[in-house]
Amino acid sequence: MIVAIDGPAGAGKSTVARRLAERLGFRYLDTGAMYRALTWLARQRGVPLGNGDQLGELAAEHLVSFDEQGRVWIADTDVTSSIRKADIDSLVPVVARHPAVRKVMRGRQQELADDGNVVIEGRDIGTVVAPQAAVKVYLNADRSVRANRRLAERPEIGADALATDLRLRDESDTTDLDVEDVVAQIEELVRARQPA
Ligand code: DC
Repeated sequence: MIVAIDGPAGAGKSTVARRLAERLGFRYLDTGAMYRALTWLARQRGVPLGNGDQLGELAAEHLVSFDEQGRVWIADTDVTSSIRKADIDSLVPVVARHPAVRKVMRGRQQELADDGNVVIEGRDIGTVVAPQAAVKVYLNADRSVRANRRLAERPEIGADALATDLRLRDESDTTDLDVEDVVAQIEELVRARQPA
């Protein structure tokens, strides 16, 4: 069974998806980490981030993997920590918008999801990557809450810059619910769809 968790930056997707997977005993697939890993590799290899075709080829040659511990690998390198730096934060949207890149990522994500029970987190999972998902959740929170959450993750970045960035994105609704409430609600949806 596939559970898709989509939503904008800072809505709490990672925390909720990880926790949900843990509670259900499902695997957890972080698709944002895959775009981040490719961005890291492109910089490493000097591939121009404006060149979609070249980035698509790079992605196809070096598929992203996750090991048993959930660590992220590309081109035989463990990039788990490197992909959480501010420089990757700012460059990854440039890489992720190329259709050639998205096509390779979609294929790889479908391959990684094709085996048993999995919670997949991203922006396009329920619509593009796994439209057949048994449960689809769009997680959201209001702008100031999302900005604060991003700031807590990246204390080195100023709050003003973050608020500006997040204002470009959407509105409403995990603001008043805590993680355990959200996870419990989704867990109920999943259990209702699981065979008895
Ligand atoms: O969720 P995140 O911050 O780790 O995502 C990193 C980047 O990748 C962000 O720019 C959104 C993009 N992304 C995407 O386009 N599609 C996905 N399924 C997941 C992430």
